[in-house]
Amino acid sequence: MSNLTPDPSILDPIEIASRDEISALQLERMRWSLKHAYDNVPMYKERFDAAGVTPVDLHTLADLAKFPFTHKDDLRANYPFGMFAVPREDIMRIHASSGTTGKATVVGYTANDISNWADLVARSLRAAGLRKGDLIHNAYGYGLFTGGLGAHYGIERLGATVIPMGGGQTDKQVGLINDFKPRGIMVTPSYMLNILEAFHKAGLDPRASSLEVAVFGAEPWTEAMRKEIEDAFDLNAVDIYGLSEVMGPGVANECVETKDGPVIWEDHFYPEIIDPVTGDVLPDGEEGELVFTTLTKEGMPIIRYRTRDLTRLLPGTARSMRRIAKITGRSDDMIILRGVNVFPTQVEEQVMATGGLGPYFQIELYKSGRMDAMRVLVEMLPDHNDEASKDAAARMLSKRIKDMVGVSTEVVVGDPGSVARSQGKAVRVVDNRG
Ligand code: DLL
Repeated sequence: MSNLTPDPSILDPIEIASRDEISALQLERMRWSLKHAYDNVPMYKERFDAAGVTPVDLHTLADLAKFPFTHKDDLRANYPFGMFAVPREDIMRIHASSGTTGKATVVGYTANDISNWADLVARSLRAAGLRKGDLIHNAYGYGLFTGGLGAHYGIERLGATVIPMGGGQTDKQVGLINDFKPRGIMVTPSYMLNILEAFHKAGLDPRASSLEVAVFGAEPWTEAMRKEIEDAFDLNAVDIYGLSEVMGPGVANECVETKDGPVIWEDHFYPEIIDPVTGDVLPDGEEGELVFTTLTKEGMPIIRYRTRDLTRLLPGTARSMRRIAKITGRSDDMIILRGVNVFPTQVEEQVMATGGLGPYFQIELYKSGRMDAMRVLVEMLPDHNDEASKDAAARMLSKRIKDMVGVSTEVVVGDPGSVARSQGKAVRVVDNRG
């Protein structure tokens, strides 16, 4: 691969500004954002008043800790448009999360917000090693999900050519990649595995494809998965992070030259890591729940939003702005099995490390008497699919999970194709505990 380090002249100056400059900009913008929320969203006024703080109490960035948190339930309670800080007529676009339980959460953007979002996704794509003039296949779902349109506008803002494929129709995706020869692809890592499988079925060599850069996000994925897909396609895979409530894709993005965790675009989003139980702010480097405050959003500013994503804040490397470590998982997805905390990403690492298995897995929770139990469903690679290899793989995976994760699990090794395939965000855990 060619030299991956970008010429600094293509970066936004703030990406490589001094920490002092970044902090000064954050403080100025945070003051504006707190006041904008307080003056225009009744919920923030009530909450701040109840906590005895007003925006003028913010003298330093650390003073943010005096302000109350915002939770997903607050968005639900203000459904549909109660969190908007501008008249509805000034909202240019709405997105919403599907919400498997309860009401969807709705977010709204002004024209400026949409423009900033496009800038930040373009910045993210540059960090990933994509450039003006590239052809980029966008397989994030279009519609209310922020992935498709968020990526789309960023690709256009970069000056690249977008292929607005969206999710699904895997065979067609492969056909288009083969015919159009895109340099980049934007897709969830779990769906990229379906595309990989469809390459093989079509008799095409994925390593011979035109793809050089993949921008993966919208779900947790491990270094083991990165290696699996990078080797299979001979490309560079980088991590894009984001969430609807804060913006959508492009809140943070990894730099291809370092691949050491997504850089948070700190000129627009202020991160904190808190202890999920006490709510105390933790020092950089410690693992906890990621919390975001938007610094520039007009349509729906969000103050101290609890993402439920567990990670650490790390110092800047390729850029001055801080990074997050790869997301371990969402606190909602954490399985507690006989007192041990288990994340699907920990199982993913062990599946990838077990010879003979395909990269697909699903975790099933069930009751064994009065106890919770866990079963891991995996499948053999087609060229290893015999009973002896299956038995060996089951024993190996079960031992690895016991040794590395610390829990006993049943492992079911099926035939190739037996594990449910991802259609976008993978469903890692099926809860049959009733
Ligand atoms: O998934 C936005 C997005 C689209 C990001 C495309 C990246 C690419 P939501 O549907 O609101 O938004 O889901 C947000 O997905 O809180 C994380 O739990 C998870 N997530 C997103 N990106 C990553 C990532 C979009 N890179 C939720 N690594 C977040 C791990 C991620 N988890």
